[in-house]
Amino acid sequence: MCGIVAYVGPKDAAPILLEGLQRLEYRGYDSAGVVVSNKGFKVRKVKGRVADLAQAVPARFKGTLGIGHTRWATHGVPSDVNAHPHLSADERVAVVHNGIIENATELRAKLEADGVVFASETDSEVLSHLIARTVEETSSLEEAVRKALKSVVGTYGIAVLDSERPGEVVVARNGSPIVLGIGEKEMFAASDVAALVRYTRQVVHLEDGELAVLKADGFHTFASGGLETAKEPLTVDVEAGHYDTGGFEHYLLKEISEQPETVARTLRGRLDERFHIAHLGGLNMDARETRSFRRVKIIGCGSAYYSGQIGAQLIEELARIPADAEPASEFRYRNPVVDPDTLYVAISQSGETYDTLAAVQELKRKGGRVIGIVNAVGSAIAREVDGGIYLHAGPEVSVASTKAFTSTAVAFALLALHFGRVHDLSPADGRRIVDGLAKLPDQIEEILKQGDRIRDFARKYAGRPSIMFVGRVRGYPVAREGAQKLKEISYIHAEAYPASELKHGPLALIGPEMPTVAIVPDDELLDKNLTTLGEIRARGGNVLMIGHREPDAKLADDAIVVPKNEIELDPILLTIPLQLLAYHAAVALERDVDKPRNLAKSVTVE
Ligand code: F6R
Repeated sequence: MCGIVAYVGPKDAAPILLEGLQRLEYRGYDSAGVVVSNKGFKVRKVKGRVADLAQAVPARFKGTLGIGHTRWATHGVPSDVNAHPHLSADERVAVVHNGIIENATELRAKLEADGVVFASETDSEVLSHLIARTVEETSSLEEAVRKALKSVVGTYGIAVLDSERPGEVVVARNGSPIVLGIGEKEMFAASDVAALVRYTRQVVHLEDGELAVLKADGFHTFASGGLETAKEPLTVDVEAGHYDTGGFEHYLLKEISEQPETVARTLRGRLDERFHIAHLGGLNMDARETRSFRRVKIIGCGSAYYSGQIGAQLIEELARIPADAEPASEFRYRNPVVDPDTLYVAISQSGETYDTLAAVQELKRKGGRVIGIVNAVGSAIAREVDGGIYLHAGPEVSVASTKAFTSTAVAFALLALHFGRVHDLSPADGRRIVDGLAKLPDQIEEILKQGDRIRDFARKYAGRPSIMFVGRVRGYPVAREGAQKLKEISYIHAEAYPASELKHGPLALIGPEMPTVAIVPDDELLDKNLTTLGEIRARGGNVLMIGHREPDAKLADDAIVVPKNEIELDPILLTIPLQLLAYHAAVALERDVDKPRNLAKSVTVE
């Protein structure tokens, strides 16, 4: 989704802004623009890629203060004119905006009635015109921005320049992230640390309602009422190399291949082999409180929700606490009953997904106890929750989630082990899970070695218009995630069903043109799953089996056999071949693997 970069300091701003925008490309966008300030503004905006923008920026585009933006269209088509920055009519104020101004139509009508002529169709342009008015009446840009924002309803992360104040940039946030980067006699701001890590690791996250003034020699932050706030800079543990493909053809393949290491990082320091427990200091919960919850409710969106379904099963199986998962996007709108005996768990790779954040805020408003399973350290959801588990999987750049998915499932296994051991999970079962978790990185490595075989299956199935995914109980969320990965990056239609439901309707779809990917773990449901394979093949459907036992492979047309772990942990391993299958199908179909059409990495709007 949209991205913001801002710079003030001694250097030429344009190359820094363009480099920052390039680092934000992974989030998805359709147009880009920059403005630098130097005795007035110099602006370039293009529909298309940051590379196109860089081509359009002339050598004489000089100025040591500037802001840049990548836009993901919501109000108005992708076009040069609708791209940000937006300037006021007198060209004194320039604004870039992430988020949605909900009362834009009303504000626009008022401004137009006063004679303001709009250049674009965007909601964001109202901001430049509003600030252009308040800037005349106030003594500082900060005050002008604060005053203008009083009439705005909606979400925003913004960066603002005033051509008459050439040494400062003002940024503000409400529901859309802004992070400040502290350099040597230079300051940066961005909507994502990815744009900053080349220049600095010292960052400050703005809270909702906060505003900051950045000058080359430092920054000041203010609460919405105008009082200055004190902020402690954080050092981000992210390397610029995390944002390179590292020799892989795509970020997605790099991130799939990183999973032995990322799973090991999620586990690091958390397994106790003496008491067969998990150490999860970030939960901020003692044993008494841990025992007090009667239910666990898990919320997240998309793949995060599917990993939550794996998590709910782990918690029920290992801790015998009723648990279920629900899309955060649905949960927040149905006026949920918030129960004091329920522990709520919000999952998010980015920590920015608006629906998940809004659900957390609603829960907290109603007094719910919420913990997070989050990858992005210091992100909005991580800051909003009462405690939680960081994944430590490193930045996930490709739009489709892979390593965050497996690390989230691993984090749930740790949580379930922790809850189980304060309830009735025996030390012997605790040891079984601890040992099983410790084996995961090597087993993932084994699965990755089958990459070439999986690529051959992907090529075979990529020509089909539609693919069915089925699994039972533990295999069902795996099937859902497999279908999700395939459809989002290859655009092949895919459906996931519980295998037990096939006879209740979808079996009608099965035939020679509709192959099935069946998740067949070696668990107590193996026989039932094998019967399902027979039913599909009897109707002329091809089956690609993902399972554990070589002999079962004969019952399918094709099979990928993966190493077996404990039955509760097997879903984590069974997911890996499906990621590779989707990846190779997308490559075979020449899709834009890392930036699938219509999708964005962080969905920061409703
Ligand atoms: C699928 C995918 C999305 C995200 C979802 C939640 O591959 O990436 O479905 O899982 O948008 O994102 P986060 O985890 O950042 O909240």
